Amino acid sequence: MPEFLTLHEIVKKAKQNLDQGSWDYLVGGAETESALRRNRAGVESWLFKPRILNDVTHVQCATELLGSPLRIPILMPPIGSIQVFEESGAVGVARAVQEFGILQILSSACLPSFEEVAVQVPGPRIYQLYLVGDQAWMDDIIARAIAAGYTGFCLTADTQTYSRRERDMLKRYVPMSGRVAGGGDFNAQAAMSWETVAHIKETFDIPLVIKGVGVAEDARRCVEAGVDVVYVSNHGGRQLDHTRACIDVLPEVVQAVDGAAPIVVDGGFMRGADVVKALCLGATAVGMGRLEGLAMAAGGEDVLLQALHILEHEIRTTMALAGVSSLAQLGPELLTREAPLAPPHVLSAFPFLAEGY
Ligand SMILES: Cc1cc2nc3c(=O)[nH]c(=O)nc-3n(C[C@H](O)[C@H](O)[C@H](O)COP(=O)(O)O)c2cc1C
Repeated sequence: MPEFLTLHEIVKKAKQNLDQGSWDYLVGGAETESALRRNRAGVESWLFKPRILNDVTHVQCATELLGSPLRIPILMPPIGSIQVFEESGAVGVARAVQEFGILQILSSACLPSFEEVAVQVPGPRIYQLYLVGDQAWMDDIIARAIAAGYTGFCLTADTQTYSRRERDMLKRYVPMSGRVAGGGDFNAQAAMSWETVAHIKETFDIPLVIKGVGVAEDARRCVEAGVDVVYVSNHGGRQLDHTRACIDVLPEVVQAVDGAAPIVVDGGFMRGADVVKALCLGATAVGMGRLEGLAMAAGGEDVLLQALHILEHEIRTTMALAGVSSLAQLGPELLTREAPLAPPHVLSAFPFLAEGY
């Protein structure tokens, strides 16, 4: 296993390892892919206003979510078909995540099954479900997830219908998760409502994460419904196109939630500095979806583990150079906004790839 010193090398290796169909499925988005590019544009628009001459000998960047420690404020979000990128799939992610000390949200659209992952890698983990059955079916799955030891349950609410991923459609590429989504009863997913949320909260004693919040009003409804984690996401620009960058949704959601629940955000976060920006704007933790897939594609759990170490180094370095030594010191006063230097795209966090490195 080669030693990767930078995330650049990991992304390059992933590209070498994947066929065009799998690569496009991983890096692509919906329709014109504007939401995908806007996620990056948003992240790149925030700049640091560093402070100097603060003692940064010890930088503390550990936190917790739903009672589970996070060595760095990062989550591995649900990635359907993760086994397409590397055969160990969700188990490989689970092992790397556990060894490093963060949290995984396991997708219902990937292999192995949630129960098998729980047996092979016991420990705190959140289960994300796509509803492809009726309420009794959902209740049975949630009860089984609790019995299997899952410490949180995540409902993805931005996927009430499957989007038009034209990059895949043009090649007639059908990802495994697309088959699950299209092949199951997607009507149940379409029929999800705030009543579904109320039902889960009334029936089960497991923390509930609502993923796909895109506006303050829905964040407020989550809080009113007793949701335990408000997860700001546009599915990495893979569902509704022409949405705002998730990092730009964050401030209004932080204001609406007003400390009532932790806030997770994802969408376009590829580097440690990107993560620190989201923390400055009030996120508790940041999901890194494509990076998870890219690291797995580059060499499975060992490379994902290396990527997490690199991210930790990047976060610590960014915090120290911005003049802060703890997460509590991060705030919006450390940021300002400017237009990005160049048109952002899904991999613009890795500018040296274009130079052939
Ligand atoms: C290949 C792929 C598969 C995904 N599958 C799921 C899924 O099964 N469930 C889900 O809630 N989100 C899924 N997502 C969305 C991610 O959980 C996350 O919201 C998104 O990747 C964040 O954006 P980023 O890739 O820019 O980090 C998927 C994303 C990708 C790239």
